[in-house]
Amino acid sequence: MSVQINPSILSADFARLAEEAKAVQGADWLHVDVMDNHFVPNLTLGVPVVESLSRATDTPLDCHLMIEAPDRWAPAYVEAGAGSVTFHVEAAAAPVRLAREIRAKGARASMALRPATAIEPYEDLLPELDMLLIMTVEPGFGGQAFLDIMLPKIRRTRQLIDRHGLDLWLQVDGGVSAETIERCAEAGADVFVAGSAVYGTDDPAKAVRQLREQAAAKGADSPR
Ligand code: DX5
Ligand code: ZN
Repeated sequence: MSVQINPSILSADFARLAEEAKAVQGADWLHVDVMDNHFVPNLTLGVPVVESLSRATDTPLDCHLMIEAPDRWAPAYVEAGAGSVTFHVEAAAAPVRLAREIRAKGARASMALRPATAIEPYEDLLPELDMLLIMTVEPGFGGQAFLDIMLPKIRRTRQLIDRHGLDLWLQVDGGVSAETIERCAEAGADVFVAGSAVYGTDDPAKAVRQLREQAAAKGADSPR
């Protein structure tokens, strides 16, 4: 299990996205939060911005779709250049068909769970996915406080992944910072989204390095 750090551009300067992407060189993916003001009470960006950003950076794009009707819209994000596309299971009409379509179009397929959504009903779907995203805040805004009550769900999900012997990444998103990343890594997460903890600092690239070191020190491969 290797640690990946994905800075969220939600906390970056939207007028300077190409520069902000360069400011986190060394990051594994750029996390791009797509919000439609229906699934969440906020509005951010869509396909044209993803298309331009994918041309402006070599860092692959991890698109987190907080939108209604992902069955209809997610494929367009693959076509726009996203390397990974995450849809919310609460919004998807046919998650298996959608995950297969995302994969068939050439991106990694990922499914997200809001804090109140349990993992257990989706155990049989896990082989269809390349990544599972456990939200550690209610989706919609950056800079919210990490929900500690999500740690048991992260642990149970890691156990399911290991029990089935799956090569499935486990991402956490929301309130991940120097204060909380170690708890997430200990619980079994291996992909960490961080917005304000990266772009809210003077040296975003350094923040990425430090978060990576902290997570690696507490992750599954490290001595406990
Ligand atoms: C929240 C978004 C997150 C957000 C995280 O709904 O999905 O990706 O950018 O921001 P921080 O790390 O500041 O909580
Ligand atoms: Zn996100």
